[in-house]
Amino acid sequence: MHTKLHVAIIMDGNGRWATLRGLPRLAGHRTGAKAVRQVIEAAPELGVGVLTLFAFSAANWKRPAEETDALMALFAAHLESEREECLINGVRIRVIGRRDRLPQNVRDSIVRTEQETAAGRELEVRLAVDYSAREAIAQAAANASIPRALGPDVDLLIRTGGEQRLSDFLLWECAWAEFVFTKTLWPDFGAADLAAAIADFRARDRRFGAIPQHPIGDTMQLTL
Ligand code: FPP
Repeated sequence: MHTKLHVAIIMDGNGRWATLRGLPRLAGHRTGAKAVRQVIEAAPELGVGVLTLFAFSAANWKRPAEETDALMALFAAHLESEREECLINGVRIRVIGRRDRLPQNVRDSIVRTEQETAAGRELEVRLAVDYSAREAIAQAAANASIPRALGPDVDLLIRTGGEQRLSDFLLWECAWAEFVFTKTLWPDFGAADLAAAIADFRARDRRFGAIPQHPIGDTMQLTL
């Protein structure tokens, strides 16, 4: 069996998904939350041990208050409604990012969910909320503890929605990550898409700067 993977996902495309259907952007975020559930349910049997999800970037405060308020309400509601299910299924929830700019009810839901799910061993879900990788690195550096303060190395980074950029997500942890970019909009992403991305990842030869482990036939002998 493989070692457990750390998969990180930039869940992009909720707004476009809704706009394409003539719906308000919030409808995209609501359906996106359903996709989050599907991916969490599917992750353990696909060999994922840690799943880091980019739910709200520090830069997302630039959006209208109507949308950021709605997203905050959605986070609090989901932490409350999914906590029990997480407990039953051994899912540990942690939230990374700044807390001081979050509404009090979101902070309370985070603390309670983190405490109650702390013993979960099937899957660790790290939700990035008000998160900036640069800020996290700067803070860790100020405390002289970069590797300890930041998370585990990312094996596979998935970004939905067609863009091909990191957007200040896990800059340090993605040093050796494999990337999968898909045009699928986040609300349409499901267990099969996660399985396909992981199958793609597993077919890659990760060399970490060393020479190939699996030469392709005799022609690939070293000819330096
Ligand atoms: C990106 O789509 C998505 C977000 C900024 C919010 C992510 C939130 C969720 C997936 C729903 C709730 C999550 C949890 C954990 C309950 P976008 O709005 O940038 O889409 P666009 O690029 O099409 O405008």
